Amino acid sequence: MSGIEPGAPAGLLRGALDGLVPYEPGKPVEEVQRELGLERVVKLASNEGPFGPFPAALAAIARAASELNRYPDGGCFRLRAALAEQHDVGLEEVAVCAGADAVIGCVCQASLDSGDEVVTGWPSFVTYVLDPLKLGAVPVRVPLRDDRFDLDALLDAITPRTKLVFVATPNNPTGTMTTRAELDAYFDRVPEHVLTVLDQAYFEYVDDPDYPDAIAEYAKRGRRVLVLRTFSKIFGLAGLRVGYGIGPAEVITAIGKVRRPFDVGTPAQEAALASLDDAAELARRRAVNREAMASLHTVLAAAGFAPAGPAVANFVFVEVGDAASLADALLREGVIVRPMAPFGAAGALRITAGTPDEIAVLGDALARIAGPQIESSQERALDRESP
Ligand SMILES: Cc1ncc(COP(=O)(O)O)c(C=O)c1O
Repeated sequence: MSGIEPGAPAGLLRGALDGLVPYEPGKPVEEVQRELGLERVVKLASNEGPFGPFPAALAAIARAASELNRYPDGGCFRLRAALAEQHDVGLEEVAVCAGADAVIGCVCQASLDSGDEVVTGWPSFVTYVLDPLKLGAVPVRVPLRDDRFDLDALLDAITPRTKLVFVATPNNPTGTMTTRAELDAYFDRVPEHVLTVLDQAYFEYVDDPDYPDAIAEYAKRGRRVLVLRTFSKIFGLAGLRVGYGIGPAEVITAIGKVRRPFDVGTPAQEAALASLDDAAELARRRAVNREAMASLHTVLAAAGFAPAGPAVANFVFVEVGDAASLADALLREGVIVRPMAPFGAAGALRITAGTPDEIAVLGDALARIAGPQIESSQERALDRESP
């Protein structure tokens, strides 16, 4: 025993936290390697980009390292200014936080009182549910239709108490997108008292012509929307934590009031800034991802699995039956994937595309597990589908 009194004083902790469990992140590669004595472990669990920071970002991080005795610029001024210029919006319309995740947390803190409602699709990004719950607000989860956000059903779920609607496009975990036509129709109908948070964390991966740039097409055309983007995915900066929101100045100002002033460190700000001008590297990564996604579909099809789709980002959602056992078997083969039980889909896995080489490792592992494990998973999947 450490000697620290284990209990909290009676009544100290807020009742809203009672039913919450802390977010459970995917296992780190090193831990799996050590536990299972594996030489190579491939992590396809957290939708990260498979490549490190852009070359200019690495140089910026190295430069920033020697100045780490100083606090960062609390206003993220240079990064916000660069983003404002890139998107042709005002500085006061850009919020930079420690990841898109933190923007979600801030907009919830800025807007939600106990009992207020938030509408989102389900399964979707768990933060849309957890952050309102932490505040005593009520998340209303609207089932996806054919693995896609059902925007009409979201509209039907809005009440006078609804303050926020979260739409992830592409959606995590299903990888599907909402089209321009669907979003146009949604914005024509959504009531004035609601702020829509349109999460485009995977924006840079999508090359479908029906996929809108929500900053240009909705935020800048006066829709009541906060658009989220991040440097965690294609830019390879997940470990540094930097993302942003673009929306109405009043909302951005409110986010600034609740945000911790130094939550985005100097290396994160500098690396993000240095990542903005390398269109060639962005295009290269997008092309590698396209190839990896095609390989991922091929190896899954060979194992008899058909992912939800079309999946337009860098991951797929796939019903496999006994997802926990299959994830465990893959782990023993050195491949980390994400069971979807926390998203309310106990029979599914989410698998990140990684590089084509990493997908080949997954394919080999699936082939080795093939036989009893996969067959029993598929039988269970079929059982669940039959009436
Ligand atoms: C839909 C969605 N939004 C936001 C995030 C969080 O991104 P960040 O790393 O910028 O906090 C993720 C990360 O997985 C995501 O999938």
